[in-house]
Amino acid sequence: MLEVAGLHKSFETADGGVTAVDGVSFSVAAGQAFTLLGPSGCGKTTALRCIAGLERPGAGVIRLDGAELFDGETGTTVPPDKRGIGMVFQSYAIWPHMNVFDNVGFPLRIARRPRAEIRERVGWALDMVQLAGFAGRDSTQLSGGQQQRLAVARALVQEPRLLLLDEPLSNLDAKLREEMRDELKRLQSALGLTMLYVTHDQAEAIVLSDRIAVMSEGRILQQGPPREIYERPRSRFVADFVGSSNLLAGVVAGELGERRFRIETDCGAVSATATAALGPGERVLVSLRPERIHLTAARPANKAARTVWEVTVDGSRFFGDSTYYDVTCRGTALRVRAGPDFGFEPGIRAFASIAAADCVCVRAGDGDDG
Ligand SMILES: Nc1ncnc2c1ncn2[C@@H]1O[C@H](COP(=O)(O)OP(=O)(O)OP(=O)(O)O)[C@@H](O)[C@H]1O
Ligand SMILES: [Mg+2]
Repeated sequence: MLEVAGLHKSFETADGGVTAVDGVSFSVAAGQAFTLLGPSGCGKTTALRCIAGLERPGAGVIRLDGAELFDGETGTTVPPDKRGIGMVFQSYAIWPHMNVFDNVGFPLRIARRPRAEIRERVGWALDMVQLAGFAGRDSTQLSGGQQQRLAVARALVQEPRLLLLDEPLSNLDAKLREEMRDELKRLQSALGLTMLYVTHDQAEAIVLSDRIAVMSEGRILQQGPPREIYERPRSRFVADFVGSSNLLAGVVAGELGERRFRIETDCGAVSATATAALGPGERVLVSLRPERIHLTAARPANKAARTVWEVTVDGSRFFGDSTYYDVTCRGTALRVRAGPDFGFEPGIRAFASIAAADCVCVRAGDGDDG
């Protein structure tokens, strides 16, 4: 459906220029939600603007439904308004001098659609985002969440083949952001929209997406379904950026089975799963998710493929639905998440256990070079 191959974009700047997008390739299947996830400045907006036709890439190919929108080799460039793409900008770009109806209908008026059709399609779009009663309202008299929905309605009204959204929820407070996130997901599934979403918020990416591409410094480091990205990170960057992780340096001490290794770390030996083939003596990083470490007061029964470490509890932080414990294991600090009712006092000894399947190791240095 959407195919992006070898996309490059550099900007000239007073301090010598910057490569914002550095050879990015991915495709989004029809009806799927795809997210570019990465930290500030990694090139997400630039990639989106290239696809929308608002920036001219230095190289690469962009195709939508098999039709070429851009080709760096042949020089093909389809203008933005002929691409069949709707975009929701981070700032929403709502026109303050127009009411809700006129804001949504604007793209159709530009396209010189008949009045009756405009009325019908604006009505449908406002319905979709639950703003049906707001058509006559001044657009400056909307809440943040309503403005966000207005921006989505304006993008939907042209029935785009592809919807691009650039951090559309970042201006909203935490509660509203979650509500709108779920609403966007519902809308996307219900309408079968093909959606390319950009965010630096991993929870948003995980909830909204069929596939995620994690970006760093203009490149995609890993792409796959949310669960794979979360549970099988292939580099330190991905393990660290997508959910918080304990990362322990270790050395491969032996092979226990297919893609399963015994790793020596400062905390002791651990059985871990690898996403790549590893040789003995190789230096690795072991990623342990705080929520996958079980903390108990008594030593748990020894089960195969489970690592048990004795730890000391240093302190805790209560988060309402959970409590995070800072523990030390042979001088190494670890973060562990437990239910809200756990009552480990600082200074006590406890046992941390983790299943081999939840213990993922990546080559040390892998992905750190981009
Ligand atoms: N018009 C421009 N001129 C020069 N440099 C630019 C321009 N737009 C972006 N850049 C640079 O390109 C890089 C990528 O910027 P981009 O806006 O794509 O990042 P982003 O991932 O969207 O970040 P954020 O999460 O902060 O929005 C940055 O280093 C930025 O400074
Ligand atoms: Mg941006």
